[in-house]
Amino acid sequence: MALTVKQRIKQLNGRILLNSIPGTGSRFTLILPQTGAASVDDLAAEWLANHQESSWPSQQPTAEKTTRETAPPPVNKTAEQIRTPTEKPPQQEDSRATILVVDDDRANRMVANASLRKQYTILEAESGMQCLNQLETEPVDLVLLDLMMPDMSGFEVLEEMKAHPERRYPPVIVLSALMDSKTISHTLQLGAVDYLTKPFNREEILARVHSQIILAQRELHLEYKVQQRTKQLQESNQRLEETFQQLLQSEKMASIGQLAAGVAHEINNPVGFIHSNLSTLSEYLDAIGTLLGNYKDLGQAVSETDTQKVQLLLEQINALRAEEDIDFILEDIPGLVADTREGTERVKSIVQGMKAFSRADDGEMAEADINAGIEATLKVVWNELKYKTEVHKSLGALPKTFCNLNQLNQAFTNLLVNAAHAIEEHGDIDIRTQQVGDEIIIEIADTGSGIESKHLQSLFDPFFTTKPVGQGTGLGLYLSYEIIQKHRGSIDVQSEVGKGTRFTIRLPIVSAN
Ligand SMILES: Nc1ncnc2c1ncn2[C@@H]1O[C@H](COP(=O)(O)OP(=O)(O)OP(=O)(O)O)[C@@H](O)[C@H]1O
Ligand SMILES: [Mg+2]
Repeated sequence: MALTVKQRIKQLNGRILLNSIPGTGSRFTLILPQTGAASVDDLAAEWLANHQESSWPSQQPTAEKTTRETAPPPVNKTAEQIRTPTEKPPQQEDSRATILVVDDDRANRMVANASLRKQYTILEAESGMQCLNQLETEPVDLVLLDLMMPDMSGFEVLEEMKAHPERRYPPVIVLSALMDSKTISHTLQLGAVDYLTKPFNREEILARVHSQIILAQRELHLEYKVQQRTKQLQESNQRLEETFQQLLQSEKMASIGQLAAGVAHEINNPVGFIHSNLSTLSEYLDAIGTLLGNYKDLGQAVSETDTQKVQLLLEQINALRAEEDIDFILEDIPGLVADTREGTERVKSIVQGMKAFSRADDGEMAEADINAGIEATLKVVWNELKYKTEVHKSLGALPKTFCNLNQLNQAFTNLLVNAAHAIEEHGDIDIRTQQVGDEIIIEIADTGSGIESKHLQSLFDPFFTTKPVGQGTGLGLYLSYEIIQKHRGSIDVQSEVGKGTRFTIRLPIVSAN
């Protein structure tokens, strides 16, 4: 048969060269003119069939091997799929892996092609540049790469691939005649997954290609699984966040329920004195109106030079001034107006506080003043505190910090209301803020009942409450803790039964940019 091949090569005006190293293998080089392309392919197959026994004596596949070989590892069929894990799980069956054989020597490409094409779809590239171009457009599962090529060497291809990991190139097995360990280790360092020397052994190349494709496939499966898991985690995170927001809102509404009576009272007070001031002002206006009428008549009498009438009116005016205490009225009016104005301001700020507090949206992250937040919160909870507590404020100078003040106010509200609830008859609440280094420290301390040490561990757990059913949901401290956590801060508690409790919040100072 070999003779037939030799004759046919001759017919095609070609040459056949043999380079054989005992114990290593043989290298046949077929040199053919370009016109014989179709016959060259046939020749390669024919040549391979004839030389399998002689050049690669141990590679004749057994029946079992053949079955294994004919079932190539499962692969993806599109370039996208091999490069990026997809929404769908990687395909398992009915797909042949695609191998790109890169060699400037046509005969070498043909030999590799003939060795692998039964199991794999083979693409060919004759230069490093062509290889990279082809990888941009074709779905390739593995590259067999020669090193010594004109224009762009295999080393340069590997360097390019290493420089662009984001392009997710397929695994590369180097196929080279160079055998020195320096070259081998250099290519492996550049990212090649394996190294085969030419002339290669057909069974070995099949086995190595097979295992690399299996590895690539596993990697893809793993990436797919990680992607799926990440997606699931993101979804449950999103659900958690939504639930948290709902809880926050319902706790807010519950607090509003608790505070409503107090707030109503807070509003009622100024509304009451505004009302009474307005009645007084109305009476004052009547008296001033009568007096002005008398003065008008007096003007008229003066212009008519009616001395008798002038005299009478002057007496009347003096009597009215004394009777209505006009001098006092004139003195009293500015105070009444100022009090009324202050009352309306108080109502306005309580209503604004409640409005901000109950807002369904979560408020915004913005640069804000923590002290202003505490003052606003105090207005909302004032009625809970004022009868039984003495509130001592020591608000230090604080820089503005990037935070969700609406949420922080909710935490302050709960701490202050808890403190008030812990004080049975009369006690003190100390509110202290200060900057220490790059942190803002907020302390809220009370001289209330204190917390039993056995409860300290569960204090921030959702639904932990010692209050009777209907009086506490046990969500206040849990939500406060979550709010502080979201601000990358911390909340600690110190307590002694019978003496009182101190909550300390630490917030990092964050600038908006
Ligand atoms: N300052 C405090 N002094 C004493 N005990 C406190 C104090 N703050 C909290 N506690 C205890 O911690 C428990 C949990 O507080 P938390 O604010 O989470 O829930 P709650 O006040 O019971 O209900 P709500 O959900 O209405 O706030 C309270 O029931 C109380 O026993
Ligand atoms: Mg509470």
